[in-house]
Amino acid sequence: MKRLNKAALATIVALSCTPIAPAMAQDADAGKQVFAQCTACHAVTATNGVGPGLLGIVGRKSASSPGFRYSPAMKRANLSWDEKALDAYLTDPQKTVPGNLMPFSGLADAKQRADLIAYLKMIK
Ligand code: HEC
Repeated sequence: MKRLNKAALATIVALSCTPIAPAMAQDADAGKQVFAQCTACHAVTATNGVGPGLLGIVGRKSASSPGFRYSPAMKRANLSWDEKALDAYLTDPQKTVPGNLMPFSGLADAKQRADLIAYLKMIK
């Protein structure tokens, strides 16, 4: 059996430690661009418009923006908008909260959703 020499071993170690993360890094600036699709209905403040104000949305309870008239479906959803719940809702609002009244079909691109959520995290 051939033994691996030190240089080969070092290469293997270096390769297996190479981070793959940068390609998937979340980018709040890119997320701000994605949020342009939401601004017709949502403010990044507590002010409600067509949709509820999104100030502090990441970590907030669903249907908790004071004074906003939520649909019965959203009132019943009883979610905590953590990253996972937001990712699911923004992928397919009707599948995640059936019967809710957000007139938005969803964002199919996972990177766009990750960027958008990185941006939403900053509005608090
Ligand atoms: C055409 C208007 C419209 C657009 C565009 C829209 N939304 Fe909404 N959104 C709403 C409405 C209306 C609701 C409340 C739904 C209900 O009560 O059933 C809502 C609810 C939400 C909620 C739940 C808020 C809470 O307080 O529980 C989140 C989160 C949200 N939208 C995020 C987004 C994001 C992010 C985008 C852009 C990708 C977006 N929305 C695009 C109208 C919109």
